Amino acid sequence: MKNRKMLYAGSFDPITYGHLDIIRRGAHICDTLVVGVVNNYSKNAMFDAEERVEMIREATKEIGNIVVDSFVGLLADYVKANDFCVAIRGLRTSLDFDYEIHMAQMNARLYGSGVETIFLMTDPNYSFISSSMTKEVFLLNGDIEGLVPPNVLEAMIRKVSK
Ligand code: COA
Repeated sequence: MKNRKMLYAGSFDPITYGHLDIIRRGAHICDTLVVGVVNNYSKNAMFDAEERVEMIREATKEIGNIVVDSFVGLLADYVKANDFCVAIRGLRTSLDFDYEIHMAQMNARLYGSGVETIFLMTDPNYSFISSSMTKEVFLLNGDIEGLVPPNVLEAMIRKVSK
């Protein structure tokens, strides 16, 4: 049976094809996939939360059952306030696993019962991609075509030309 509504949260600064792969596959196994953009900022962000939300909307507009939202504060509070039963995460390598298991266990403690973290294995074509590395290559004039959707590449070009 399909889950009614699932959450895929992240900073998405910016969204990459690795994230899009997880979004597509997540959307396939639920009625509505909410992509939740975290807006707490500790990393050096290239885009503000509104820009990231807009880029994700544009990049996912063909998929159909996607809602893009942003939140501040604890993921667990957002999950509980919106009655999610499932939060999905993408796993790229065993390094992700070591980090993710601690986060999933901490979140499980915060959620209480009835909420599960479910992991989807990243498509191996995308397992080397991260948002930070993509930005670094781009800012040093490297080629990032094929790593981010065209609307994101255009937004990055606009951002640095300002
Ligand atoms: N494809 C491509 N890249 C991926 C990926 C995939 N499938 N999965 C992860 N990544 C990349 C991301 O782009 C990100 O790259 P970056 O560090 O270069 O920006 C990196 O891997 C880490 O991604 P992720 O683990 O999703 O971290 P995040 O910062 O994007 O978001 C939250 C993590 C939002 C789930 C977490 O920070 C959170 O819950 N924050 C709210 C505060 C909170 O509740 N804290 C307590 C948590 S226990």
